[in-house]
Amino acid sequence: MKTYNFDFVIIGGGLAGLYSAHYASQFGSVALITKSTLDISNSYWAQGGIAAAIGKDDDPGLHFEDTITAGRGLCDNAAVKILVEEGRDRILELLKLGVPFDMTNDGPALGLEGGHSKRRILHAAGDSTGKEVVKYFTGIVEHNNKIKIFENTFVFELIVEDGKCSGLFAVNNIDNENFLFLSSNVIIAAGGASGIFSRTTNPNTSTGDGIALAYNAGAEIADMEFIQFHPTSFYSDTGDTFLISEAVRGEGAYLVNEDGFRFMQKLDPLAELAPRDVVASSIFKEIESSGNKCVYLKLDHLNAEKIKNRFSYIYNHALDYGVDITKNLIPVAPAAHYMIGGIKTDLNGETNVKGLFACGEVASTGVHGANRLASNSLLECIVFGKRTIDAARVNINNETTSDFRSKNIYIEKANETFYIAIKKNIAEIMMSKVGILRDEKSLREALDDIENIASKYNFTENEFYSKKLSDLIQVSKLIIISALTREESRGAHKRSDFPSENSSMKFHIIQRKDAQPEFLPLSN
Ligand code: SIN
Repeated sequence: MKTYNFDFVIIGGGLAGLYSAHYASQFGSVALITKSTLDISNSYWAQGGIAAAIGKDDDPGLHFEDTITAGRGLCDNAAVKILVEEGRDRILELLKLGVPFDMTNDGPALGLEGGHSKRRILHAAGDSTGKEVVKYFTGIVEHNNKIKIFENTFVFELIVEDGKCSGLFAVNNIDNENFLFLSSNVIIAAGGASGIFSRTTNPNTSTGDGIALAYNAGAEIADMEFIQFHPTSFYSDTGDTFLISEAVRGEGAYLVNEDGFRFMQKLDPLAELAPRDVVASSIFKEIESSGNKCVYLKLDHLNAEKIKNRFSYIYNHALDYGVDITKNLIPVAPAAHYMIGGIKTDLNGETNVKGLFACGEVASTGVHGANRLASNSLLECIVFGKRTIDAARVNINNETTSDFRSKNIYIEKANETFYIAIKKNIAEIMMSKVGILRDEKSLREALDDIENIASKYNFTENEFYSKKLSDLIQVSKLIIISALTREESRGAHKRSDFPSENSSMKFHIIQRKDAQPEFLPLSN
């Protein structure tokens, strides 16, 4: 088997992976591994932007307050302080580097999104922030001879001996070649899992592989019940959907129901700009009570040229569905968008497995609590990406183990069709029974349904699609079990059988292989 040695092995090609690879390259050799290509990631698809308190009337303290308020009592204050303070510094560095944020004569153009008390959302090419920032860092890493990029490469197992990670096994999912990577620093930056749900704003590659990898290697997984639903994802009868950025509401769009009534005004003083959990669940209830399939965003009172310019991606994409957003109502409904929980890390990206780190959406640093504030996620990628590398670089030159069983995986192409069909089935179960509003009955049914699927599938050892399916089942179960365990409604986790917040449940839910879920008190 081809064997590589690197000082840092980074799994994931979104902003957390790219930024960490760029920063790590100052200290040693870097492998950047992605199961797809660098233009497919949640970061690439991010529209709204990156939040940072850089405005004249703003302050990291205000950004801190807004993040804590959105997080519904579950944020780790120290992590949030780092996010907002170091976030400001990282953004100023990105501006100096020349990342192409949209500018005004006074400096970066700053947008507004739900839950923010100030305009602090930097954006690029209007509503293509993720794409522009990812393209910028892709250009940098592709020209850096300290970084070797492995695309279409699926990591299927971490090498962990005596609680220490020293590398991984991977396969090229096109030509079936197997690889061994040895490194004293393995960094998982593999993104989220919202692609497990049938209605999602994520690429279909967002299936939580990083979570399954870490879990199987003995890492602690935190707060998987908190899947954040974006309130406004385009609705079409075919099921096709794409994100309609919260920034559209930030520029003055209204949410109306079938009768043209602005229902958010009676539900929250911030109306359309209330925190995301409030807007998403209010839309869900409006849809349920009316029997309609969607609500609408109304923009026809706004300056049409400004809207076309600021939201050119959304404008053009909606036109493909016959909707001119400057004139017509945009049909929208919530969709799974962001995995708030993930691999539990400390403030330096370290997991409970030595040599194993995590950053970006796949990590649970404690910054988002029970409900992520809009546009804090790309910020988290760069702030905790840097901290992770700073912690990891002290391990360079540590010896890696040579005492492990070699592993190969093979790809049975004929299994792909089964995999896709079962993935679709699981996605429908997750959406209908583990969606925006859950209860014990729906969650237990979902668990039974998924175990039933698992019992019928003929899993083959060391086969690629069998492995992918067992990971998908594993991650779905982690979400369901955490959702069953949290018997309250808080932030992104809403239970109709426990409709209120329970002040005695201010804890994290930790899951670990072969153990019952545990409650971890907040460190504040
Ligand atoms: C959006 O543009 O609404 C998404 C921003 C985010 O999820 O943070």
